[in-house]
Amino acid sequence: MHSKYPIGVFDSGVGGLSVLREIHQLLPQEDLIYVADSAHVPYGDKSKEFILERSTTIFEFFLSQKVKAIVVACNTATAAAVKELRGIYHLPMVAMEPAVKPAAEKTQTGIVGVLATSRTINSNNFQILFARFADQALIIPQACPGLVDQVEQGDLDSVETRALVAQYVQPLLEQNADVLVLGCTHYPFLKPVIQEIAGVHVQVIDSGAAIARRLHHLLGHHGLLSDGHQIGSVQFYSSAENGIADQVISGLWGSRVKTGKMTEAVS
Ligand code: SIN
Repeated sequence: MHSKYPIGVFDSGVGGLSVLREIHQLLPQEDLIYVADSAHVPYGDKSKEFILERSTTIFEFFLSQKVKAIVVACNTATAAAVKELRGIYHLPMVAMEPAVKPAAEKTQTGIVGVLATSRTINSNNFQILFARFADQALIIPQACPGLVDQVEQGDLDSVETRALVAQYVQPLLEQNADVLVLGCTHYPFLKPVIQEIAGVHVQVIDSGAAIARRLHHLLGHHGLLSDGHQIGSVQFYSSAENGIADQVISGLWGSRVKTGKMTEAVS
């Protein structure tokens, strides 16, 4: 393991780019490899076994690229597979946690809404997180079927996307939530619409920046922070045919990128 090696970041699709941009901003000298498992997105409607199998395939790809650390930039994969992945792989790993802690500290009404996939909401991790802050705030989970698909299509602001966001946000506002937690890495790309619908008195928060800080800390702890002085490279891979991913990833990343096809080991 060497500090010059890259960091692997993955998601079921393009949502993890919201975490990747925070990492690139905080640690610009690091080389990054991003994998979008676009052939299998969304993970929200897949079984735990399937998500673990996909995560393992992507981890093996990262190991073939000699990564020094892996970021699971997907709340659903974190909920379904991270416990097992930590048992199998022993390199530095950072996984997602919805920003319930800062939300519980920020709320004035004592009511926090959490937008996430049903799989995340129903997971053990999430139930434990809820219980931890239950005496500080009433935490109301809201499953958001369809939102991941809108982001995957690069559709961040259409009438249809706005209607879906309103459908999920409105009930939380009616219950007096004044902080909304984005518990899926796809949702930060919808933040402008979510904020507009929620209004200025509601804080909309996600955990991307906190994940980047945790990665920074972990790399420092293992002596793996890059000491390079140049801006690191960012490579993009997808499990789907290239063309589709290129366009959406370029749009969300903010510059034209070429996506490679992730090679999968045949067992
Ligand atoms: C999904 O693929 O269903 C959502 C990904 C996430 O939870 O971040």
